[in-house]
Amino acid sequence: MKTLVLIPVLLFAVLFAAGCGSDEEIGIGPVKKVTLGAFDKSLSEKGRTIFDQKCVACHKFDSKLVGPPLKGVTQRRKPEWIMNMILNPEQMTKEDVAAKQLFGQYLTQMTFQNVSEDDARSILEYFRLVDSN
Ligand code: HEC
Repeated sequence: MKTLVLIPVLLFAVLFAAGCGSDEEIGIGPVKKVTLGAFDKSLSEKGRTIFDQKCVACHKFDSKLVGPPLKGVTQRRKPEWIMNMILNPEQMTKEDVAAKQLFGQYLTQMTFQNVSEDDARSILEYFRLVDSN
């Protein structure tokens, strides 16, 4: 009798844990799935222009500024997570484990820079270029 009760409970626990795990990896925000194709040079150039306008006040690639150095970010985070961080930083630092840790370390809230989802995708392409060098 006891085992019959335990099975659904365990199943629920396992599914719940699995669900949480994947959510953490992709972060919290509008982006649920990104499929990376071959490197797109013109998209990355668009991303670089936006990055130079909207992100350099707080980010460099090789050293800390207001925010973390961004070199290697495509290796430490999933593409969805990076885009959600760009599009939804305020909720990310409150609810996503990794972003919360960064906030604890940098003690400044990254703010939304008024970028569209397409803009965020182009910045991601620029990060791919930076990380390939
Ligand atoms: C006001 C300063 C500020 C601006 C502007 C800013 N950021 Fe941030 N960013 C931060 C801080 C600080 C963090 C660490 C999390 C936190 O404390 O909010 C961060 C974290 C990140 C991360 C996660 C880094 C990692 O190591 O995982 C990415 C990616 C990122 N920012 C990209 C961008 C992009 C792209 C832009 C421009 C659209 C941008 N940021 C604009 C301050 C800023």
